[in-house]
Amino acid sequence: MALRLAEVQNQIALSLNKAPSGPLRVISVCAGQGRDLLGVLQSHFRRDDVSAILIDLEEQNTLAIQSAAQKLGLKNIRALTADASKMEHYVTMAPADLVLMCGVFGNISDKDIRRTISISRRLCGHGGRIIWTRHRRNPDMVPRICSWFHAEKFEQELSAAEDKDYGVLTHRYLGKTRPIVPDERMFDFVGYRSLREA
Ligand SMILES: C[S@@+](CC[C@H](N)C(=O)[O-])C[C@H]1O[C@@H](n2cnc3c(N)ncnc32)[C@H](O)[C@@H]1O
Repeated sequence: MALRLAEVQNQIALSLNKAPSGPLRVISVCAGQGRDLLGVLQSHFRRDDVSAILIDLEEQNTLAIQSAAQKLGLKNIRALTADASKMEHYVTMAPADLVLMCGVFGNISDKDIRRTISISRRLCGHGGRIIWTRHRRNPDMVPRICSWFHAEKFEQELSAAEDKDYGVLTHRYLGKTRPIVPDERMFDFVGYRSLREA
């Protein structure tokens, strides 16, 4: 997990390096304690340009995000305790320059992955990036997920997936910017174990 975190942070830093000048918007879906994003922002030259919303269902996680952001002097970081699958939460932060979807695709059904990718076109603005992860255990879904991104006009930019038991990938959205539909839902977070037992 430490290696995966380091790779996610590497891809976040590269995405911020390439982002357009001016204010930047970041969305983290099922953020955990936000270590990936906050770990990068603490020393990144774009840190004060970034406004972000990090959503997690567990209050202990969002409290940890808020307190870490405060310690680092990051002013525009909002941690929200809520169901991150609901699009209503993203109305003020979309379209985003960067969307983090890490630790999600291994915990939702294939049908919901496909649906989430399609709805992600409403989270990313044209040119925005999405960083996602997925384990590579059998059946390895990484190539299939890449093909679904491709079908929705996301171009693969970075991939750390070879010779590893997890994939960390960045895709860039090249389609048109679309409005949020507030009552849409992306997924049911059923969990890795339930998926294996199904
Ligand atoms: C596997 S962890 C990933 C955390 C972080 N993104 C990472 O990559 O390390 C999944 C997180 O999703 C959160 N979670 C589960 N269901 C959720 C939901 N419906 N809405 C928001 N967060 C959820 C859990 O509390 C947990 O922190």
